Amino acid sequence: MKKLYVHPLPVRIWHWINASSVVSLILTGVQIRYVGLIDVMSLELAVSLHNWIGFLLLGNFFLWLSFYLFSGKIGTYHPELSPKKYYAEAWRQVRYYGWGIFRGAPNPHHISPGNKFNPLQKVSYQIIMLLVLPAQIVTGVLLWDVERFSSTVTLLGGVRVVDTVHVLIFIFFAGFLFIHVYLATLGHTASAHIKAMFTGYEETDDEPGAAEPERDTKEARPLVVAPMVSTQLH
Ligand code: HEM
Repeated sequence: MKKLYVHPLPVRIWHWINASSVVSLILTGVQIRYVGLIDVMSLELAVSLHNWIGFLLLGNFFLWLSFYLFSGKIGTYHPELSPKKYYAEAWRQVRYYGWGIFRGAPNPHHISPGNKFNPLQKVSYQIIMLLVLPAQIVTGVLLWDVERFSSTVTLLGGVRVVDTVHVLIFIFFAGFLFIHVYLATLGHTASAHIKAMFTGYEETDDEPGAAEPERDTKEARPLVVAPMVSTQLH
């Protein structure tokens, strides 16, 4: 196993502050939404925590943005392929997650410091970080002080519209968390990717930056491993 440094320190700090903030915002958000049905804490405390953590998430977003813009690594999220090649590789990854992985097939994506994400990760993380998360932050800030931002709220269709968008994105993040955490457990051990998000180092037996060979699921390793036969000549 080789160790590849793929997650720089600012990304790791951002990620874990972001993850704990999103989880806390979901929990306090549920308390705010279902007050009376769920009473783990008072509404005032839930609103206050939700607001403070929301602003922490906002500041932390700029840590992520500044790091990727100023380090010139924003390309990490960009699939540098023609659309045709991109769809072919993305499909290969879908087949791996939906089928190949259950048959012991190797992951078609080979991680390297310059190419740490597979095609599906690149596009989904790009949409989340540049569209969904900013939309959630903006709607959250507008709902935080509706009077102060009344002209913008009206421009967007009123409090109901802004609140509905905020709740729909909350549902999206709750679903995303399940998928994201499940996919994060698919390393060479269940905790390998999660450990890497703490240490910065991914463990791999691939050559760094090795070209991704075309693979067919037919080549998948069988689940029952045949006994090793020595082919060494004596
Ligand atoms: C608490 C549960 C979470 C766990 C265990 C977790 C785990 C991980 C792991 C292991 C990675 C490394 C790369 C990968 O496997 O995709 C990663 C990357 C990433 N995660 Fe999470 N994550 C969590 C929550 C979140 C949340 C709530 C978000 C919401 C936006 C998020 C967004 C991202 C992004 C954008 C990356 C790529 C970061 C980069 O390297 O630039 N994660 N996560």
